[in-house]
Amino acid sequence: MQQNDSSWTDADEIGHNDTPNETFHAVLDARLSRRSMLLGGLGGTAAVALGGLVPTEAEAKVTRPWMGFKPVAKSVADMVSVPSTYSFGVLIAVGDPLRDATPDYANNGTDTDFEWRSGDHHDGMEYFGLSDDGLSADRMGSNRALLATNHEALTDQFLHVNGVSARPRPVSESLKEIPAHGISVVEIQRQADGNFKYLRNSAYNRRITPNTPAVISGPARGNALMKTVYSPTGTTCRGTINNCGTGYTPWGTMLSGEENWAGYFFRNSNDNTARGNDKSVASFTRYGRNAGSSSRHGWETSGSDDQFRRFDISKTGTSADGSDDYRNEMNTFGYMLEVDPYSANSAPVKRTGLGRFAHESAAFARLVEGRPLAVYMGDDSRNEYMYKFVSNAKWTAADAYPADRLATGSKYLDKGKLYVAKFNADGTGAWVELTIANPLIAGYAGYAFADQADVLVNARLAADAVGATKMDRPEWCATNPNTGEIFYTLTNNSNRKVDVTSSSQSQVDAANPRSYSDSYNGGAAGSPGNVNGHILRMKERDNLPGALTFRWDVYLFGAEAGSDLSKVNLSSLTDNTDLSSPDGLWFSPTTGICWIQTDDGAYTDKTNCMMLAALPGTLGDGSVKTLTYTKADGSTLTVQTPVGAAPIPEKLKRFLVGPVDCEITGVCETPDGKTMFVNIQHPGESISQANVANPAAYTSHFPGNIGYGAGGAMARPRSATIVIRKNDGGVIGS
Ligand code: FEO
Ligand code: CA
Ligand code: CA
Ligand code: CA
Repeated sequence: MQQNDSSWTDADEIGHNDTPNETFHAVLDARLSRRSMLLGGLGGTAAVALGGLVPTEAEAKVTRPWMGFKPVAKSVADMVSVPSTYSFGVLIAVGDPLRDATPDYANNGTDTDFEWRSGDHHDGMEYFGLSDDGLSADRMGSNRALLATNHEALTDQFLHVNGVSARPRPVSESLKEIPAHGISVVEIQRQADGNFKYLRNSAYNRRITPNTPAVISGPARGNALMKTVYSPTGTTCRGTINNCGTGYTPWGTMLSGEENWAGYFFRNSNDNTARGNDKSVASFTRYGRNAGSSSRHGWETSGSDDQFRRFDISKTGTSADGSDDYRNEMNTFGYMLEVDPYSANSAPVKRTGLGRFAHESAAFARLVEGRPLAVYMGDDSRNEYMYKFVSNAKWTAADAYPADRLATGSKYLDKGKLYVAKFNADGTGAWVELTIANPLIAGYAGYAFADQADVLVNARLAADAVGATKMDRPEWCATNPNTGEIFYTLTNNSNRKVDVTSSSQSQVDAANPRSYSDSYNGGAAGSPGNVNGHILRMKERDNLPGALTFRWDVYLFGAEAGSDLSKVNLSSLTDNTDLSSPDGLWFSPTTGICWIQTDDGAYTDKTNCMMLAALPGTLGDGSVKTLTYTKADGSTLTVQTPVGAAPIPEKLKRFLVGPVDCEITGVCETPDGKTMFVNIQHPGESISQANVANPAAYTSHFPGNIGYGAGGAMARPRSATIVIRKNDGGVIGS
């Protein structure tokens, strides 16, 4: 979610971590090895040796001219800006129909049938290639594909004619809002003019919504914590919600991170008593659902129908195990959901082995034949943790193109170890396994873990128990295909302090070293914190996915150009490179370019959210910087942090600025690197309920203002996927 007020604090991503913790091998990337087979001969072999960065055989023989474009200026215009040598168009926007039987989107609040429309708040997104005839999966296909997109949340005032009605919520409104969440899979095809369009009537098109039956897989399947009246055996559940970042598995499926799901559920004010103050109370507190918590949309107020009732997670039944109510319903959310986009009828799978928290993206370590897989993940809330899952199964390239993709997912993702990161001040760190066998977990005073499934379902509490390092809101992570280094965005943290005065705050430390004030919109300087965020970079010991230790530095600090070079702008950002609140993060497997996207509320007085292209160096290419703070008692606090080399102009450039009030999130490309897909999330979301009827007051009219869809220049704004091409047909980023 964007932060759009002067406090730059994201009300949607409140921290609930009050624990006192301190704060070359045979690389076998499936895409690249496939590419080398397609290329054939020496060109292909060379491409793989270099990391497989070359899109065609001809281009394989020339120097790669990446970052040739002119940087885009900061902008507060209600428009998408890209370099003059590039163009963009809209592919699909919220409400667009995914079948012929559903009418065109009127975009005036009258539309229904969201089970067959693009959802709202387009977020993480992955590209799944098809053969040119559309009949089969061809992951290297650049002409025809399936685009799988997360729909994180709603700009709900624009889904209804007169905005959002008071509670109890009308059934008609909940029936739109619920299915406008989830995931969409949409077939797209390159046209004769080179532009992609989506195929409205494709048999591949599908929506996965909060109502879609899903399978619970991994260690928590059938566990006592998962039993509901919907699934008394705790083996299935319904749907997915608040899907944020994504991951592309080596076997060609999507992982979809369930992020801020807790806020959708209601608990009675007397629910702790109703539960006999059992251990579930500690779990609810840690995940942000205290008794009396109001739900985000109030869907449970739409009546006793099961699809609404499930959002009231109070204990109302008399059973001992929860099989007669929804007291355990929230335990079925908070996972990585695996989706096979090629199989429109397949049930999505909750991979409980990867832990339960506010998931963002899932980044696979470079694949090493005969070694386990590693999946990196972040928990996006203030002072939460960074995680890694390591599979028991050893990777074999034979699994890159399996007949049954979800079965392959079960092979790698259902059995393994979940670790949490602990950072040391000297630039090293350790992965601590979250296992019931650890006495710190088994004997934890804060929560009585019953078994390993309980450890995974309550991963935050287990991570507390082992003293994991509290981070500045870990958002997306991504693997540099050239080096194997893992990058994490830490978007910002208003609770990162020099003087810690409450349990919700944490003190500056080496990995989260900045705390400073910002003045948004020329106003008074706000309370200090990590206002602009940073991007951390880590390298596993011996560059192996199963390593238990790593080294790290800060690749980049977000900052406003012109801010203090010794305290704030530690990466010496300029007008062409300055950014705030990095969030989306992705390395193109074709070009190796690192794409950085922002979800900001601290610099939006000067620029809308943006996307930058980067060619990062390697860990350790910079120096140790020292930050000296004066505490309230007059004493000195010194923090030393390894910081990457300040990026030179050729290695970091702003590529895109979005329209007003949006977040830029989600990015993928055709495998030939010549078409890029980017999501514009919630343009114009800050419009008040009172102004829904007053289009002149809207802060954005995108994409109606570029002629897309109904409503014209004064249209209600819509989240959308845009398509970017280079005007000369070249590779994106060249
Ligand atoms: Fe949905 Fe934390 O970004
Ligand atoms: Ca500012
Ligand atoms: Ca985000
Ligand atoms: Ca964010």
